[in-house]
Amino acid sequence: MKKYFFDKTKTYPLVVEPQNNNSKNNLTDWINAHKSEVESELTNHGAILFRGFDIKDAQDFEDVASSIDKDLKNDYLGTSPRNSRSKYTFSASELPGHYPIMQHCEMSFLSKPPRKLFFYCYVEPKNGGETPICDFRRVLEQMDPKIRSEFQEKGIRTVRNYDGPNQKSLFKLFQLKKWNEMFHTTNHKEVEEKCAEYGIKPQWTGTDKLRLINEQPATKTHPKTGEEVWFNHLSIFHADAAAIEYKKIVEYRKKFNLWLASFLLSAFTFIKKIVAKSENFSMHTTFLDGSEIPKKYVQHIEDLIWANMSIFKWKKGDVLALDNYSTSHGRLPYSGPRDVLVCWAED
Ligand SMILES: [Fe+2]
Repeated sequence: MKKYFFDKTKTYPLVVEPQNNNSKNNLTDWINAHKSEVESELTNHGAILFRGFDIKDAQDFEDVASSIDKDLKNDYLGTSPRNSRSKYTFSASELPGHYPIMQHCEMSFLSKPPRKLFFYCYVEPKNGGETPICDFRRVLEQMDPKIRSEFQEKGIRTVRNYDGPNQKSLFKLFQLKKWNEMFHTTNHKEVEEKCAEYGIKPQWTGTDKLRLINEQPATKTHPKTGEEVWFNHLSIFHADAAAIEYKKIVEYRKKFNLWLASFLLSAFTFIKKIVAKSENFSMHTTFLDGSEIPKKYVQHIEDLIWANMSIFKWKKGDVLALDNYSTSHGRLPYSGPRDVLVCWAED
């Protein structure tokens, strides 16, 4: 196999390409014959991109992912709407293409987050739609020591508010799905049992609404390397994060329509913070004691994330393997066709 990096300043992703035989079986045979090499490169670099192989569909993708890790899972308690594509693969996100998805380690707010995450490009996007990745070990290492200590002392509390099966959420821009769609049931007891399994505190509010609360440290020790990693969903859930992200995207893309969306999003966030209590936002992050995290902290973290992000264009058939305990992912806005699938594994 041929191995290289896109960018000499970033050792992620490690790109692996075939020398001659590009069949899926050749890739899975090679992975099976080089298990410890693949495992240690994934741990060291945080990301491996298998490019140029003939990975035809969701089942091929699942076969490649399970050759790296047999313990694939299909319980999903995250935020994005997803559609099932094979036993263990899903569309990465059904969120409209103009939504940015900020950097996060998958399901970092759960007591049992995935150890590995896999993406597959079935239809490559032509306009945007990259899945940037970032080494969250570096983000923590480069963080202002005072801000880092404050996060490590105070911890993180995330709140998500979900409407019930019979509520309409036309005016909630970031109300992503209803709690019955997330838990695949309308039974409160079943929801509570699932929450207990994953370390989520549920609160029934208003007329059949559900508030999900997660309390966690801001960082996590990598189980294999012992390194400390920035490991939480601040960039997704904090009320200011989307507006900050859009400004970054405008600087990166330099497009007028994105500038307009950025302006409207900033205005919307400003008004929302005046008229509503943060506890009732669709999503929000505070310190563990409920005190607000200053916007300048969120800005500092977003600056570090963008400085360490690796952005590359998808090619059809690409399979990206991530060490979810060190390496985050997100999505840049796009227009036109794009079909990227996801699956994940636990140790
Ligand atoms: Fe994700």
